[in-house]
Amino acid sequence: TDQVPTLLRGRLLSFHSAPAGPQDTAAYSYLEDGALLLIDGKIAAQGAYDAVRVQAPENVRTVDHRPNLILPGFIDTHIHFPQAQVIASWADQLLDWLNDYTFPAEMRFADKAHSARIATEFYDALVAQGTTTAVAYCSSHPASVDAYFEEAERRGMLMLGGKTMMDRNAPAELCDTPQSAYDDSKALLAKWHGRGRAHYVITPRFAITSTPQQLEAAGTLLKEHPGCHLQTHINENHNEIALTRELYPDAAHYLGVYESFGLLGPKTLLGHCIHMTGPEMRIMRETGSVAVFCPTSNLFLGSGLFDKAGLEGAGIRTAIATDVGGGTSYSMLRTLDEGYKILQLQRQRMHPLTGFYWATRGNADALSLTDRIGTLDAGSDADLVVLDARATPPMALRMETVETLSEELFVLQTLGDDRAVVQTYAAGQALKV
Ligand code: GUN
Ligand code: ZN
Repeated sequence: TDQVPTLLRGRLLSFHSAPAGPQDTAAYSYLEDGALLLIDGKIAAQGAYDAVRVQAPENVRTVDHRPNLILPGFIDTHIHFPQAQVIASWADQLLDWLNDYTFPAEMRFADKAHSARIATEFYDALVAQGTTTAVAYCSSHPASVDAYFEEAERRGMLMLGGKTMMDRNAPAELCDTPQSAYDDSKALLAKWHGRGRAHYVITPRFAITSTPQQLEAAGTLLKEHPGCHLQTHINENHNEIALTRELYPDAAHYLGVYESFGLLGPKTLLGHCIHMTGPEMRIMRETGSVAVFCPTSNLFLGSGLFDKAGLEGAGIRTAIATDVGGGTSYSMLRTLDEGYKILQLQRQRMHPLTGFYWATRGNADALSLTDRIGTLDAGSDADLVVLDARATPPMALRMETVETLSEELFVLQTLGDDRAVVQTYAAGQALKV
């Protein structure tokens, strides 16, 4: 990149660790009059405005975002790129929703032109919401993966994703085979993983749509490429669990299916993790696998309530995500709000500092990418979101009585959406039009 060095002035918020409670000020840095110096797509310096300004080169361009907040860009750890036209479909629960709406929509991604058009719209939606990194399922067609990463490259965004592997219990047009899924995934991985900011993710959809032979192929691929992530779904819905147990009668439990093919580890992202048994929780902890909470999806599909305290108390790593199109919003603010309510139903009152930690550094930790994204630390990639807690009249009215940072964050989380996102930067470039 050959960008003009940029100095962003504003109120900076960045997390160092998960806040232990409302008073844990050591968990984050907050600067009322801070600045970020962006050079060549990275944060070259950060700190008090007066201290950073004097480090800036002569040709620096200054953007004053005061009084708005500058945070690391939001990270969405589970989303389906080919479901942009599935969102808001009136369906029964998971399995009917997949058969009636999702599979037909994903079939259209065999067409590269369709994939490219939806990719443009999909990234526009992410950028509008301040999301700078996402982990996506593409369709089972390699063309959809190309369209997905080509658009990310155009925008300079750090994106993760992969070809969905599925070889049964779906329309023939979507089904691959164990061998073709392995070959196509391997070729896409070779093409994209590490090209610019792209990260390839090995993506068997879930046990119901993969034969044992295909899950074995996924395990082989992961063993050959241990630097890659793997994503799949688990324990989302009672009918899904019952069918999985029928298809894999020898497994001790749902997670045992994935465990037996070597699919678990610190780079494994398991969507939903709602109905978990004790033995499964122990294996999650031992393998360092990540449980991904998808609040708007879990409510929309009537799937159940994610037990954050129970999982984290058992030593399991967690992340939070939209799961569009089972999820109903691209916004991580809306996602935090709905997540808050799910936890409220279980008497787990998530503090706003915890929520904003989760959507930024927490998700970066879950992806093992904290050295690159998720904080405002010097040396990080310059992926940022600028937030205005007075974006709408009801927000501005509520803000009249707000006195603390935590209260302001809670207003943003509870009332905010894309209107509160003033700007989104990826690799130092302002992307929001
Ligand atoms: N399980 C398998 N596929 C999917 C999907 O596309 N969305 C959700 N929410 N769950 C799934
Ligand atoms: Zn999903």
